[in-house]
Amino acid sequence: MRFTNTLAAFAASFSLAQAFTSGFNVAANNPDGSCLTTAQYTTAFQKLQALPQKIKTVRLYASSDCNQLALAVPAAISTGTQILVGVWTEDEAHYTAEKAALQSAIQAHGHSWIYAISVGSEDLYRGDTTASTLAGQVYDVRGMVRQYGVTQPVGHVDTWTAWVNSTNSAVITAVDFLGMDGYPYFQYSSIGDAPSVFWTSVNNTKNVAQGKPVWVTETGWPVSGSNFGAAVPSIGNARKYWREVFCKATSEIDIFWYVYQDYSSNPSFGIFNSAGNAIYDLKSC
Ligand SMILES: *[C@@H]1O[C@H](CO)[C@@H](O)[C@H](O)[C@H]1NC(C)=O
Ligand SMILES: *[C@@H]1O[C@H](CO)[C@@H](O)[C@H](O)[C@H]1NC(C)=O
Repeated sequence: MRFTNTLAAFAASFSLAQAFTSGFNVAANNPDGSCLTTAQYTTAFQKLQALPQKIKTVRLYASSDCNQLALAVPAAISTGTQILVGVWTEDEAHYTAEKAALQSAIQAHGHSWIYAISVGSEDLYRGDTTASTLAGQVYDVRGMVRQYGVTQPVGHVDTWTAWVNSTNSAVITAVDFLGMDGYPYFQYSSIGDAPSVFWTSVNNTKNVAQGKPVWVTETGWPVSGSNFGAAVPSIGNARKYWREVFCKATSEIDIFWYVYQDYSSNPSFGIFNSAGNAIYDLKSC
């Protein structure tokens, strides 16, 4: 039936266009250092869903720190948000506490709220660990969550420069996805060159990914703070970077923007100010 086929083809092309996830990084701490409460996570998730892009996926950096999963998962479930979970890998005691917090959250709430799990964050960039230790932890966490029926991907987040370093290839072999952090700002790029610098870092990471999915787990442009070479923070530049990178990325790659809120940092990448309002216009792309 011709009509049905046309419809199916249309549906397929539509789902292809929708195949990429757009998310946001959400920090566990308020600017005064206190931990976000469940009510604050709920507000954050509702504000992200109210954006024209209807963001329903967030990345958290840790599981036990600030009781992140215990406090955030109820907010995720009540708002229909999914979490890219972070499991901190250092040191041994911290890693054990992180795994225990993830296990407790799964036991209490099942796993429909999990988008994926990242074991570690920029550990290779910092030179805090070796590729073989980190790869072992990826296998370890995957083994643990699979026992609970969790089928979501288990990967690792690091800077694109760490991924393209062949010393770290054991981690690429271990992961289900490569989460890459890339900031043209920290590469001293002008705002004009920033999209090209960004897409070059994505392409370089894809080239070493052994065919595995590459997600952008952090990128953004500061609204305020110090210049970094030719990189100049400003609200106008942040908005330009959003329009030229985020808006294009939504049809090309999974992306987690940096960051929901960080209004007391220098540089400050936060999109939402202390009153909870978007600092610049995030209209549909
Ligand atoms: C790759 O990583 C190794 C181990 O951390 C480091 O010694 C080396 O300098 C890195 N190579 C480059 C090109 O950054
Ligand atoms: C990245 O790769 C894509 C696909 O091969 C290509 O179209 C694009 O021009 C590349 N971007 C840069 C900045 O190299």
